[in-house]
Amino acid sequence: MANLLSLLDVDGDSKISQAEWLREFGTMEEFQKADIDNDGVIDLSEWTIYSPKFELLHNLSNDSIEHENAAQVGGHAGGFRPGLVPGRILKKTNELEVTAFKEMACDDPAAPYCVKFFSSLGEPIDGEQWVEMENLLQAKNACVMDCKIGGRTFLESEAKNAKLRTDLATKMVKHTPGSLTADEAKKGITKLTYMRFRDAASSIKELKFRIEGYTTKAKDQKAPVSADKVECQKLQHEADVGQALNTYFSTAPNGTKWRVLRQLKGLEAAIPRSDFFKSHELIGSSLLFVYDPDGTYASVKMIDFGKTSKRQGLTHTAAWQSGNHEDEYVVGLRNIIRLIEHS
Ligand SMILES: Nc1ncnc2c1ncn2[C@@H]1O[C@H](COP(=O)(O)OP(=O)(O)O)[C@@H](O)[C@H]1O
Ligand SMILES: [Mg+2]
Repeated sequence: MANLLSLLDVDGDSKISQAEWLREFGTMEEFQKADIDNDGVIDLSEWTIYSPKFELLHNLSNDSIEHENAAQVGGHAGGFRPGLVPGRILKKTNELEVTAFKEMACDDPAAPYCVKFFSSLGEPIDGEQWVEMENLLQAKNACVMDCKIGGRTFLESEAKNAKLRTDLATKMVKHTPGSLTADEAKKGITKLTYMRFRDAASSIKELKFRIEGYTTKAKDQKAPVSADKVECQKLQHEADVGQALNTYFSTAPNGTKWRVLRQLKGLEAAIPRSDFFKSHELIGSSLLFVYDPDGTYASVKMIDFGKTSKRQGLTHTAAWQSGNHEDEYVVGLRNIIRLIEHS
């Protein structure tokens, strides 16, 4: 895969010959399914490469964007559009995310575990900035799970404001009645109090990751079914989160968990060698798990760099204290590996 990606990225060339294809993938079967031009050259720009040895190579029509939105398990609604070419989507984004994508070099050891990014669109559409990336949901029945990784979901800069806000106090009491005294609710709370509360009310505090949402598809179901997002995000403890992971994988074919674990462990091994991780603080970033219930593929990729920023010298394991910017990404990653192994 690394070689193939470099064919695509480094040379800026999205075509490979039959000989190159065979060298990378070793079989003619998939090559013949592809759209080969008269010179026997395959245009890879319309293809998505999931994993080494083509776990799945897919072509996607833009019509399926409706499905993609339906299958969005986390994040903000209305944030996606069809891509400029099949197999890609546009995400409404911000400067931090575009910068992070550009700084993930294609030869970075963590790059194979990150969603593939193609371009940021210079001209805003409807006043918004968009980024084009690989569509990770290629099959109609793909089951997907979004897990936010790290020990906090807010930036230090978001936590600095000392202003007392009654709107946040109201939200906190709505989430957990009785979490504030009448006096506290009346005076209001700081954004830091609210955000720490939100993280502690999920598994972020205990496990350094939380499940944002997921879909499953049992054999007798026509389409994937979503788990309740709010309930997912409220799971706090290991046993409950483990149970949810178990439910996500319960409709997966045999071997899916192990394929996913191999990729997660690959990411864990890549992080100490990754320049991207050496120079970034990752907040609110997710791992997007996708499997096809028919067994064609299983993948997990890093997505969502909207709060990822340049920061030198983080360990990604040390506990966060205000000012040290630590994100505890690796602690969350190790916990998710352990829980999937035991689920
Ligand atoms: N490259 C992608 N391909 C397919 N679906 C995606 C992709 N990126 C994100 N999604 C879907 O959209 C959701 C939100 O994406 P995310 O990047 O986390 O946006 P937000 O910044 O709104 O949180 C994810 O949970 C996932 O379901
Ligand atoms: Mg997100």
